[in-house]
Amino acid sequence: MAADVKMLFCVGLIVVLTGVGKSALIGKTHGSGGEDLVLQYVVNNSLREHPVLTKLRLRTLQDQWSIMMVSSDQAQFMANLIRLINATKAIEIGMYTGYNALSMALAMPENGRVVACEIQDSYINIAKPFFKEAGVQNKIDIQHQTAMKTLSKCLCISHSRRTHTKRRRTVVTTSCLDCDGKVVNPAPSDQTSQSLDALNKKLHKDQRIDLSMLTVGDGLTLAIKR
Ligand SMILES: C[S@@+](CC[C@H](N)C(=O)[O-])C[C@H]1O[C@@H](n2cnc3c(N)ncnc32)[C@H](O)[C@@H]1O
Ligand SMILES: *[C@@H]1O[C@H](CO)[C@@H](O)[C@H](O)[C@H]1NC(C)=O
Ligand SMILES: *[C@@H]1O[C@H](CO)[C@@H](O)[C@H](O)[C@H]1NC(C)=O
Repeated sequence: MAADVKMLFCVGLIVVLTGVGKSALIGKTHGSGGEDLVLQYVVNNSLREHPVLTKLRLRTLQDQWSIMMVSSDQAQFMANLIRLINATKAIEIGMYTGYNALSMALAMPENGRVVACEIQDSYINIAKPFFKEAGVQNKIDIQHQTAMKTLSKCLCISHSRRTHTKRRRTVVTTSCLDCDGKVVNPAPSDQTSQSLDALNKKLHKDQRIDLSMLTVGDGLTLAIKR
């Protein structure tokens, strides 16, 4: 078991923002969920944020799109997932200012690698000094190009390696609810929520995976390869 290759894919789906609506379901600690007493309780009693993550979160809150940032409780859960399966590789699709990438890198051993895909260089420039300050810049491989390009390369490599490993644990995580729960009843014009809904329904039927959908942050699907 110890030599197995474990992977965690993180898909930070692009959320089209039309103002942060009220959420009956879920919330982000830095969004409308901040007023949710249960979420406040969760944060007050479970968050263990690395000091550099705190700094990065405060810096990101100055950005006009900061609502895109992962919720701290969600990032902590994903870091714990990494520890649980001893993941040494994670692919972050859409890194934004890097909160989740940094959080995952901090949870990995020295030989761990986070491949972080991001198209916008202004976000990468915000992220970099924080990765360095936390001393994990060598664990984070920033790919400044469309995620599709990076993914085709990564998946090709992992496919060729498959023959040499006995068994691998692959956990694919995606946001499943978008930030205000619109996916529950997506408007015909709302392509983001329509696609999320279609993906959720497709995964539900897929017998190749074990599945959980959590109402943390933007919603988190765990698809665990059988
Ligand atoms: C919801 S944010 C991700 C939040 C991030 N995971 C975090 O930890 O805070 C989505 C990000 O995906 C990036 N993005 C959008 N399309 C992309 C693409 N085709 N390839 C790579 N990144 C993309 C956006 O620039 C944005 O920064
Ligand atoms: C959480 O902690 C903050 C800051 O100490 C406090 O203002 C708030 O009332 C607490 N909320 C809950 C539900 O514990
Ligand atoms: C992860 O690594 C620890 C320490 O090396 C080991 O005890 C544990 O069994 C491993 N867990 C899995 C799921 O491989």
